[in-house]
Amino acid sequence: MNFQTKIYLAPMEGITTYVYRNAQAAVYGRLDKYFTPFLEPHEKRSFKKRELQEILPENNRGLYVVPQILTNRAEGFLELAESLRNYGYREMNLNLGCPSRTVVSKGKGAGFLAFPEELNRFLDTVFSGLAAAASDMRVSVKTRAGMESPEEFLRLLEIFNQYPLEELIVHPRVQKDYYNNRPNLAVYRLAQQKSRAPVCYNGDLFTRKDLEDFCAEFPEADRIMLGRGVIRDPGIAADRMTEEEAAERFRRFHGMVLEGYKGWNMGDRNVLFKMKELWFYQIRQFEGAEKLAKRIKKAQTLAEYEVAVSGLLG
Ligand SMILES: Cc1cc2nc3c(=O)[nH]c(=O)nc-3n(C[C@H](O)[C@H](O)[C@H](O)COP(=O)(O)O)c2cc1C
Repeated sequence: MNFQTKIYLAPMEGITTYVYRNAQAAVYGRLDKYFTPFLEPHEKRSFKKRELQEILPENNRGLYVVPQILTNRAEGFLELAESLRNYGYREMNLNLGCPSRTVVSKGKGAGFLAFPEELNRFLDTVFSGLAAAASDMRVSVKTRAGMESPEEFLRLLEIFNQYPLEELIVHPRVQKDYYNNRPNLAVYRLAQQKSRAPVCYNGDLFTRKDLEDFCAEFPEADRIMLGRGVIRDPGIAADRMTEEEAAERFRRFHGMVLEGYKGWNMGDRNVLFKMKELWFYQIRQFEGAEKLAKRIKKAQTLAEYEVAVSGLLG
């Protein structure tokens, strides 16, 4: 890795699974932190099978993994903190960024930002609960700038500043932006100036150049979270390599991910679906490959997919 800055892999539902993060780390070098796609507290048991797979230590050997939690119930969060501790985790992350309607309508994810006083009580219960249990679990937050307007961010910062957050990860869009418009860098600057917790930037750094430009503009940024940029190019933060080496590594990486998902025994169609989802981002690495991209899109079976991909990967 040739960046001074710490680089984290963002949580992406269905994408940044343990299969993905292990392949990324093995082929391109370990990033500083890997966030799991969000987990939710459940009534009867701590984790669903797929969630458990994400956090099992044997599936994450040698990686610094931070489980992410989506909830607005402090009791559920505290119960998960205890379960995660038992699996060896000492850091977890609260999702205050998910913009999806179904999540937001329940007052979770970015939807929780519309209720700052409830959020304040939630954090109070979480941090006093951890202190009362003498727990050494550390908690970070991944937030948007607000629901409707970036002006909401000042009040949110005041709330965050009352608690000993491990770090504050800021994706400076508001919920109603979804992924449209541009990240609001003034919001990030404000966070840098006023946050008690260290601030991590997240949003729209898609290429190595974006990353370099960002680091030049914000030399004080010591941690950055990347989502779609890594999925587009899993070597985005790796040392520079020749074209041949990059092609060879990507072939290896793709093979590891494909084999990993085949091992999930979820049926060929689901493996195909997972791989196609990755290509939505990855294809941007392959300029002028529109024809091959179409063939990947069109593939109806895993066999057709493997033929189409071999055309691209050589
Ligand atoms: C398909 C998809 C799934 C995502 N899933 C999650 C999630 O589970 N938890 C979360 O906090 N953010 C999630 N995000 C948001 C990303 O973590 C990240 O904040 C966002 O993509 C902006 O960063 P980027 O521009 O580097 O991709 C998701 C984004 C996408 C596109």
